[in-house]
Amino acid sequence: MKIKVFDNPTQMGYMIAKEVAAQLNTKPESVLILPTGSTPIPTYKSIVEMYKNGEVSFKDAVTFNLDEYIGIESDHEERYYNFMQRNLFSHVDIKPENINIPDNQTTDCEKECVDYEAKYRASGCADLALLGIGNNGHIGFNEPGTAFDSVTHVTSIAESTIKANARFFASEDLVPKQAMTMGISTILSAKKIFILITGKGKHDILMKLLDTAVADESIPATALRLHPDVTIYADREAAGLI
Ligand code: F6R
Repeated sequence: MKIKVFDNPTQMGYMIAKEVAAQLNTKPESVLILPTGSTPIPTYKSIVEMYKNGEVSFKDAVTFNLDEYIGIESDHEERYYNFMQRNLFSHVDIKPENINIPDNQTTDCEKECVDYEAKYRASGCADLALLGIGNNGHIGFNEPGTAFDSVTHVTSIAESTIKANARFFASEDLVPKQAMTMGISTILSAKKIFILITGKGKHDILMKLLDTAVADESIPATALRLHPDVTIYADREAAGLI
C-alpha cells in the first residue's frame, strides 16, 4: 500500500478529483465504485467544479455505490441515493441508467444484493474504487468479522457505526440497523483502490491499518493488503507524525 499525505481535506479532495478526471479522460466508459459519508465530500465538490470547467465528463461513466441503508424512507436526506444526487450526480452529466445504488425500496433486499453483484460483475468490475473507512476499520458496511470472500449482502450495522452515524440523524434510534453492502471480495475486484482517511478521529485506525502487516478479518480494511494497487489518501490530522 502506498500512502499520500495532504495538508487538509480540500487539497486532498482536489488531488483525488484530478485522478478521477484522469481516469475518465483516459477511459470515458470507466466503472467507478463510490462511497458516501463525510470524507468524500471535498472530492465530490472538486469533481463538480472540474465538470463545470469542462475538465471531466461522466457521459459514458458507470458508477456503483458501495452500500445503502435498509429501512429509510425514499425521500430521507440520508438515503445514500439522495446523498449521491445532492453531492455529485445532479451536478454532472452522468446518465441515470449508469448509476447503480442498491435499491432499498424493494421488498426483497437479499435478491437485490444478488442482482447488484451480478450487474457489477457483468460491468467488467471497477477501474477505480474510492473508499472511506470506519473507526472500527469497516469498508462499505463490512463490519469487523466479515469474511474476506464476501460478496454484496445484507448486513447488520455495528453498534459503534450506529453511534458514529448518529450525527447525521435526529437521534441515534433513527439510524438504520441494517444495510446492503458490496462484500470485501467485491471491493477487491476493483483494478485500483483509493482509501480516503481524514481527521484526528481516524488517526488510530490509520495507524492500525499501517501496522497490521497481515490481512485480518477483525479489521476489514486490512483486506486491502491482499490487493496490488491501493493508495491511502490521508490528511495531516489523520496521519499525525508519519
Ligand atoms: C459509506 C461507506 C462507509 C464510510 C465510513 C466512513 O458509503 O462505505 O464505509 O466510508 O463509514 O464514513 P465517514 O466518511 O462519514 O467518516
